[in-house]
Amino acid sequence: MRSLAALSLLLVFAACRSGGAGATGAGTAAKIVTPPEVTPAAVALGDSLFNNGGCMRCHGAKGVGAANGPVLADTQWDQLTTGSFEEIRAIIVSGVPKDKFKVASRPNAMPARGGRMNLNDTQITAVSAYVWTLSHK
Ligand code: HEC
Repeated sequence: MRSLAALSLLLVFAACRSGGAGATGAGTAAKIVTPPEVTPAAVALGDSLFNNGGCMRCHGAKGVGAANGPVLADTQWDQLTTGSFEEIRAIIVSGVPKDKFKVASRPNAMPARGGRMNLNDTQITAVSAYVWTLSHK
């Protein structure tokens, strides 16, 4: 009896491993996992930096988009591929030169580190956290 129970357990386990792998992967992709950097305090600081400072000028209030910059409050990206926190952070650090634009009619390059805002690393993380929330609701 004991060995039969053990065998059926093993079979169930094996079935889950092989058959269940795809389903598990799909579930992970659909679920939004909040990165550890996206804390309420970081988002609040990022909100004020974004919406009082230079980002809003080009991306519109709350990232709704404007003539000078793409929408950040959806999941369609011009420059990013996945919209991950790391990608968002990297592009805020580097900016986007005009020769890399997807929409060539946009008038100005996106400045590195917010240009005149000259964001330090803490501020970069905060703005990234805020921007991440715009597309992960
Ligand atoms: C001078 C205008 C300007 C400013 C200021 C600016 N951006 Fe941008 N941003 C752009 C342009 C233009 C692009 C790329 C558009 C393209 O590829 O056609 C871009 C791209 C992005 C992207 C990638 C969007 C995508 O669809 O892939 C993110 C994220 C972003 N900016 C965040 C920010 C943040 C945060 C700030 C403030 C620290 C900021 N930007 C300041 C103009 C600006």
